[in-house]
Amino acid sequence: MKSNLIKLAGFAAVIAFASPAFADGDAAAGEKVFNKCKACHTLEEGKNKVGPSLHGVFGRKAGSVDGFKYSKAMTDFGVTWDEGELKKFLADPKGVVPGTRMTFAGLKKEDEIENVIAYLKANGG
Ligand code: HEC
Repeated sequence: MKSNLIKLAGFAAVIAFASPAFADGDAAAGEKVFNKCKACHTLEEGKNKVGPSLHGVFGRKAGSVDGFKYSKAMTDFGVTWDEGELKKFLADPKGVVPGTRMTFAGLKKEDEIENVIAYLKANGG
């Protein structure tokens, strides 16, 4: 009995650590996460690389940067990017937008996602 209780307490502690309360992300930490995006994205207006410019991405309809050749999957996706949509997409790009040309496995850690979102917001994203 007693050992079960201890196990239970340990389990609860693991859950508590695994899901920290989300305050706003940390933009400084997010800059490092953005290094993973930089090969394909800039935050400069109108500057597309392999991926579209992420300037002004919040509030923008998915697949709508002029002059960037998106996949049909992305132009058909139909969402307007906000924090919630971006969180889902960055965790699993190909799961959320099947057929996307964004060949990126996704960010595994929720705090990385929070932080990169904070970085994007703080830098004109
Ligand atoms: C290997 C290149 C590559 C990497 C790395 C990459 N992306 Fe992308 N990204 C793309 C491409 C290509 C698209 C366009 C996808 C399509 O048309 O299906 C895209 C699309 C997007 C979009 C949708 C933009 C729009 O205008 O609708 C967002 C948001 C985005 N990427 C964010 C990120 C973030 C944040 C990271 C880093 C965590 C990242 N991407 C990493 C290539 C990449």
